Amino acid sequence: MQLIPLTMPVVNKEMKETALHVLENEMLVGGESVVKFEQSFAKYVGTDYAVSSNSGSSALLLAFHAIGLNVGDKVVAPSATFIATLNGACLLGANPVFCEIGSDYVILSEQLEKILNKSQVKCVVPVHLYGRPCNMSCILDIAKRKNVILIEDSAQAHGAQHKSKKVGSFGEAAIFSFYPTKNMTVGGDGGMITTNSKKICESALKMRDVGRKTKYTHDEIGYTLRLNSVNAAIGKIQLQHLDEWNAKRRSIAKAYRNKLTGIGDLIMPPGDEPYDESVYHLFVLRTQKRDLLGLWLSKNGVSTGVHYPIPVHRQPAYQKFESKVLAFTDEWSKTVISIPIFPNLDSKDQEYIINLVTRFYDERLYEQKELRDKEKEWSNKLI
Ligand SMILES: Cc1ncc(COP(=O)(O)O)c(C=O)c1O
Repeated sequence: MQLIPLTMPVVNKEMKETALHVLENEMLVGGESVVKFEQSFAKYVGTDYAVSSNSGSSALLLAFHAIGLNVGDKVVAPSATFIATLNGACLLGANPVFCEIGSDYVILSEQLEKILNKSQVKCVVPVHLYGRPCNMSCILDIAKRKNVILIEDSAQAHGAQHKSKKVGSFGEAAIFSFYPTKNMTVGGDGGMITTNSKKICESALKMRDVGRKTKYTHDEIGYTLRLNSVNAAIGKIQLQHLDEWNAKRRSIAKAYRNKLTGIGDLIMPPGDEPYDESVYHLFVLRTQKRDLLGLWLSKNGVSTGVHYPIPVHRQPAYQKFESKVLAFTDEWSKTVISIPIFPNLDSKDQEYIINLVTRFYDERLYEQKELRDKEKEWSNKLI
């Protein structure tokens, strides 16, 4: 049986030919493709600058460094995210403060405001989780009133829009990831910072390049976090396809929503506000029978994912920090399941997935002894 993957990057002939061309003709690090990719990306997002890096995590580290994050500073982010969101801040000595998410899976503005009323916070990191834009008008308003710096984690939301403005253009800075499962990749790890601040741009350029001032002079102790030229060249071509791929993701999401709404106890991902445009990096359902559904789909050749089974405040690495009760985040982590979505998902395969999910509930297949016997084993894989 051939497996239907959860996601699959598009790698076409043009990308392969470009990679070869760069390998044969450019400096492999710091080639002209890097600058060209950065310029195209800044133009696409609508910011003055874009600085590439070798991952989204590196981009976060560079952004936190650029805003002058210091030991003991507080940084607020949701716990319902990938662990990397605050890793860079913590590595610089900051203290994470976790905020609850709403039923739309993005940071809850009311709770954010309460946190900012109570404590002195330097920076807030809203995460456009699963490709859904946060309500940036509201968050910007709060950030301005409370005088905190905003860094958007747009790692999962290339091309998503709030009120006709692209995510990644709202905060002091934003970051993107090009890890191969993302809506666009660079043919491996990669990341980008977008900003309108010359200061942030210059800091990121220097710190990604060993703190270099001139070829042989280094006036800061920096990192080596550059994006390779071959990856940048692939990224530039991927970017040209991003809108078309996002449109396909939206139409796949629409078909899932049409066919799966009202089935069993399934909760669909939140629909878009009229002024928002999600890019469905993931299509995430919620169900109390999450593990049995994952097992059933896997048995029938369909890959699923769980984003994420352990919220960041419950990760072993974060136990040294204080955290409060995040009841909805806990519930979310126990019930979410991601089903396949990617631009080249075949419509017959999608029908097959929809049919399997529908049968699971309509025929009460979750009661099958064979599935129940393996449930524990399946759940253990998530922790
Ligand atoms: C929300 C979020 N933030 C940050 C990152 C970090 O990006 P990278 O894996 O490129 O370091 C990711 C990547 O998975 C992510 O999903």
